[in-house]
Amino acid sequence: MTENKPERKPILYSGIQPTGDLNLGTYIGAVHNWLKIQDDYLSIYGIADLHALTVRRNPQEFRKTTWSLFAQYVACGLDPEKSILYFQSHVHQHAELSWILGCYTYIGELQRMTQYKDKSAQHSDNLNIGLLDYPVLMAADILLYQANVVPVGVDQKQHLELTRDIAIRFNNAYGDTFVVPEGNFGSLGDKKICSLQDPTKKMSKSDPNPDSIISIVETPDQIMKKIRRAVTDSEAVVEYREDKPGVSNLLEIFSAMSGRGIDDLVKEYHTAGYKTFKEAVGESIVEKMRPIREEYERLMQDKNHLIDLASQGAERAAYLAEKTLAKVKRKIGLTDLKKK
Ligand code: TYM
Repeated sequence: MTENKPERKPILYSGIQPTGDLNLGTYIGAVHNWLKIQDDYLSIYGIADLHALTVRRNPQEFRKTTWSLFAQYVACGLDPEKSILYFQSHVHQHAELSWILGCYTYIGELQRMTQYKDKSAQHSDNLNIGLLDYPVLMAADILLYQANVVPVGVDQKQHLELTRDIAIRFNNAYGDTFVVPEGNFGSLGDKKICSLQDPTKKMSKSDPNPDSIISIVETPDQIMKKIRRAVTDSEAVVEYREDKPGVSNLLEIFSAMSGRGIDDLVKEYHTAGYKTFKEAVGESIVEKMRPIREEYERLMQDKNHLIDLASQGAERAAYLAEKTLAKVKRKIGLTDLKKK
């Protein structure tokens, strides 16, 4: 009797590398959008700790940053009861599927990835296989859960296209195996949140200049200081224009933090002067982040609770992941040990 069957929600998958705190780029580009749609899906949010290994890390610091990001997920409002929150390295199926999918991906496809080209230029002293293979692991993350939708920032669009290509290639060879996922780029669309010091560049966790990024758990004082120092221009009018990247970036941030439209903000602050405008932008961030920071600090006091939540997440994730992995292994002709 189909009418009694609860309708299964479509699946959402996304993740973030634990290479620093959430900042306004990762928060507005990803988490903010996740929060808007998390209830419409069975939502699965990974901490992409295996992805973070392409760069050498101090093990103690890495562990701390990883737990800290997990606490930030929860503090932002991702719900560990409704959604699945877990660490990628706790579900071994990711690495296994990544190997298999790597055998269905061409080296040329990976060498063409813009992120690979940028990262390999930045890390020419440590040009490891992980840097090249990175998008295959990302494809494994997504395809393992049969995700229908993947909410990410536009910088991940190329990786998502490759994921779709791999899924289609595999399905054509072996019959329907993977759901072919769609991207969701949220209200930013094809825009990124930019560095406060160089608004033509994306705000990035790996930027060595601390004034260029704002972490969501920074103190109000630090946030206000960084916004006051943000690079603008000498025109002194608040307008959203391509030739005003600094002011336009602050408007994007202001809009996401306050929930107000950019036109509305431009109307109010058009001739207010940059000092007043920046104070208002800074305050909108402080207000939005205050409860998140307080909840984060509370969660960080109770490591055992975080361990319980992450264990529960890993168990639920592994159950779903194993279903797909077993299917893939069967399709490609790997043996199993089930007795007839
Ligand atoms: P990562 O950790 O670099 O970034 C996490 C998410 O934040 C978005 N983002 C931004 N959006 C707008 N403006 C910015 N300045 C900005 N900086 C970051 C990114 O687009 C991303 O959505 N490979 C991924 C992590 C990952 C993943 C996955 C994502 C691993 N497996 C599976 C989706 C599905 C990454 O490096 O994101």
